[in-house]
Order: sequence, then C-alpha cells, then structure tokens
Amino acid sequence: TIYWHVTEGHHKQTEAIKQAAQLLQQGHTVAFPTETVYGLGADATNEQAVTKIFKAKGRPQDNPLIAHVATKKQLVDIVDKYEPYVDKLIDTFSPGPITYILPSNGTCAANVTAGLDTVGVRIPNHPVALRLLQQANIPIAAPSANISGKPSPTTAKHVWEDLNGKIAGIVDGGLTGVGVESTVLDCTEHIPVILRPGGISLEELEQVIGPVNIDPALMENQSKPKAPGMKYKHYTPDVPLWLVDGSIDTLNEIVAEAQKDGNRVAALIRTDDVEQIKTDQYYLLGNSLQEIAQHLYDALRTFKKEDTDIIICQTVPEKGIGQAIMNRLKKAAHKTISS
Ligand code: TXA
Ligand code: MG
Repeated sequence: TIYWHVTEGHHKQTEAIKQAAQLLQQGHTVAFPTETVYGLGADATNEQAVTKIFKAKGRPQDNPLIAHVATKKQLVDIVDKYEPYVDKLIDTFSPGPITYILPSNGTCAANVTAGLDTVGVRIPNHPVALRLLQQANIPIAAPSANISGKPSPTTAKHVWEDLNGKIAGIVDGGLTGVGVESTVLDCTEHIPVILRPGGISLEELEQVIGPVNIDPALMENQSKPKAPGMKYKHYTPDVPLWLVDGSIDTLNEIVAEAQKDGNRVAALIRTDDVEQIKTDQYYLLGNSLQEIAQHLYDALRTFKKEDTDIIICQTVPEKGIGQAIMNRLKKAAHKTISS
C-alpha cells in the first residue's frame, strides 16, 4: 500500500494525485479523503476493479456503491432522465455531502449498483477528492474506506488500521470535515425520500424543494430499508457503547453503577461538560452538533477492549445534522438507556 501525505505542500500534492489517479485508471483501489469520510475508490466502469473494493472491505455483494464524479456534467453522463427538482438540488448542494439515487444509464458496472436499475451519485466537496476525480476523469465507485461493519474512517490512520496491505494506495488529506457520511436521497419518486440521514439535513433540503419524505425504515427497525446498506449492523466499536437519553446526572449514576460492577468506563462527552463527568477516560467531542459529527467516528475507534469495558455517550437533539449523529449512535449502540 502506497501512502501519500498531501497536506504537506502543493508540489507533492500534484505528484501524489497524479500517481493515485493513474492507479485508479489502471483498475486498482485507492483510498482518498472526502468532506464526509474517507472513501475507497475504484473505476466505477470496471467491474473487476470494483470487485477489489468488495474484497478489501469484506462488503456484502448486495450493497451498492456510490459513484463519485467531479462535475455536474459527469454526473448527468452516467444517469438517465430524472425529476426536475434534482437540478435544483445539484445546483444548491453539490459539490457537497449528498448522494442522489437516480436511474442508471448503464455506464457504471453492474456490481456498483448491485444489479439495481438506479445508481447513487455524488460530487464530494473536498479539494483533494475533486482534483483526484478530475485527474482520473472516470466515475469512481467509493464506499467508506473501512472494514465492513466498523466505524467509517475520518483520518488516513483509520484507513491504514483497517486496509493496509489490502489496497493499492492511501491519500492522506488529514481529518475530514463533516465526519458523517453523505445524505442518501432517493430521487426516483415525485417527492424525494431520505434513505440515510447525513451531511445535508432534512431542514436544508426542504428549504430548497419543499416536502421531503423519510424512509419509514429509519424511524424504527420495522420495515425493510430501501438503501440496502442500512440493514446491516454498522459502526460497531471495539467496546460496547451505552447510549444515555438523559441528563449528565443520570449519566453519572449509570457510570457509578457500572464502575461498582468493576467496569472501566469511558465517556464520549461535550467539551463543556467534562468537569461534570466522573469517568477516568473520556473523549472530548467538541460542543456544537457539527463538532460532534466531525469527531464521532474517531471517538468510537479510540477505546480498545484492553483498557475499556464500556463506552458511554449522551443522545443529541435530532435536528439538523443531529439526525445523522443519532442514526449512527443508535446503530453503534449496544443498548439505549432512557431516564
Ligand atoms: O459520504 C459518503 O457517502 C461516503 C464517502 C466516501 O463518499 N460513502 C459512503 O458509501 O458512505 P457507503 O458505501 O458506505 O454507503 C452508501 C450507501 C449505502 O447505504 C448503500 O446501500 C446506499 O448508499 N446506496 C448506494 N447506491 C444505492 C442505490 N442505487 N439505491 C439505494 N441505496 C443505495
Ligand atoms: Mg459505509
């Protein structure tokens, strides 16, 4: 696995991106930063190349991938005729943390779409990703660059831990900005449907195009989710996560009891609350929902079985990017405790 630092300076960055783009064109897999999480890329038009992604991640074959492109023109080139509101969304939110599910025109290989007649497409808003996509000049299929089931990678170190030796290269562009994945929006209906909450919130979408629906499967674990990936267990930390829907006092009571039972407890905590918590180990998430989203996956990866028995974390309000944070926390959680 070749490792390029692209944060160090312009000249090196140009050379690294050239080499990475070449590997992609030759059918190899390369991990690269986006504004949400690191992606593991391969030529989306090359079925064999895409197979390498599934292999490296241990990803189920029935879970389709997102095709990444640099421009609206490239996006339009890989899809069929779509609903008029999609143009409004693209012009407002792309490049940005949103994936449009649109009718495929067959440009992408069958294993990108897992045999569906739709394809997920997005224009990532990250200078390194955009330059890499421009240089490669092909649609790049890219799921998050983690071993399937683990928290998504927000640093190149996370990618290295999971995939070193299994992929051709890693482009290190530092910590990603948004920290949770893109919003997956099914745009094949008259009224679009959020299949996965992410970097662009329901509120932001509705401001631009009016009513937007939410896949009922996201509400409770009842019906079958329309995004195949949403049915799998996800974001599982090494150590069991307890999600607490209650005050800091409640959290401290739960901590005290767990400690009495001999457990070593680590808290994922808002920076302003750190003085109040009674654990030896903690991870400072920052204070705003944006900061919490940015640090969440790193926090989930920080604590290991050797030193920690339980991770504990408070719920966040389910507004704005809080919807995406809570979606990931609930999927990662071993149990939720309500007061
Ligand atoms: O932010 C992101 O979206 C990151 C970065 C790397 O771009 N990528 C990412 O990819 O999160 P992945 O593969 O981990 O998640 C893609 C999600 C899955 O839940 C998948 O089932 C859904 O999008 N998806 C992809 N194509 C689809 C399609 N045609 N129909 C329905 N859902 C689809
Ligand atoms: Mg993923």
